[in-house]
Amino acid sequence: MSAPERIPPRSVTTDEPLADLLTHGELTVRGRIRDASNAALYCTVTQDGREATCVYKPVAGERPLWDFPDGTLAQREVAAYEVSEATGWGLIPPTVLREGPYGEGMVQLWIEASPEADLLALVDAEEPEPGWKAIGFAEVGDGKTALLVHADDERLRRLAVLDAVINNADRKGGHLLPTEDGRLYGIDHGVTFNTENKLRTLLWGWAGEPLTPEAIDALKGLQEALTAEGALAGRLSALITAAELDATRARVAVLLETGTHPEPSGEWPAIPWPPV
Ligand SMILES: Nc1ncnc2c1ncn2[C@@H]1O[C@H](COP(=O)(O)OP(=O)(O)O)[C@@H](O)[C@H]1O
Ligand SMILES: [Mg+2]
Repeated sequence: MSAPERIPPRSVTTDEPLADLLTHGELTVRGRIRDASNAALYCTVTQDGREATCVYKPVAGERPLWDFPDGTLAQREVAAYEVSEATGWGLIPPTVLREGPYGEGMVQLWIEASPEADLLALVDAEEPEPGWKAIGFAEVGDGKTALLVHADDERLRRLAVLDAVINNADRKGGHLLPTEDGRLYGIDHGVTFNTENKLRTLLWGWAGEPLTPEAIDALKGLQEALTAEGALAGRLSALITAAELDATRARVAVLLETGTHPEPSGEWPAIPWPPV
């Protein structure tokens, strides 16, 4: 259980032809993803001899959520991607809004995750080992508890900052996709950008700790890009409400003022259920 090596920030998404392929390529449904809570379709997209595998989530397949009455899951998924891009960390696979066989939806590049990467673990201990961070104690049956931990991994730490900015209400283990080439992607960002604090995540290991200098730089960049004239604000205003955009600005401001990773608001850290 050793922490992965340092991965420099890099973005696949500056790949314009890929964005073009996802947006304009011919979308063919190959199958339905069974464990999805909303309609999620496994697809290919082809154009001029290029092909990519992707997921297509049509808006028509979204189940309404009482606490997210405005906008769509698909729009928020694209908005989350735009914020990830603006950080330069490339944490979310290229995601676009487009028409498909079941109407408008989000289309996102499919990521082959490598299953052997250790990001989460349950351990029979009071304290995490070096290289790991504590999330909290979990009941594991027979009246026993175990310590839930996540890797002390700088990619996860960036994702924790991104989640705080987008107010992610559902960062679970199955939404972390580590790849063989050492990258890490987060997926499933439909429940984000609420105006109320809904941060629900496994990545509480840095709660209350100072933000890294690179996180502060990224947040300053976001603050700039979120001003009324900023490029990110322009993109987001087509995807989320004005109140949600203001709340995003406010979350960035609070992170920069406190200079620390957010802490759980209640006695127990808010973690998604099931955690994986
Ligand atoms: N971009 C992607 N790359 C690889 N696998 C994906 C991608 N998007 C979704 N999946 C797979 O499909 C499953 C369902 O997608 P998810 O985004 O969780 O949908 P839902 O919003 O319905 O929960 C995920 O748990 C994951 O296994
Ligand atoms: Mg999901």
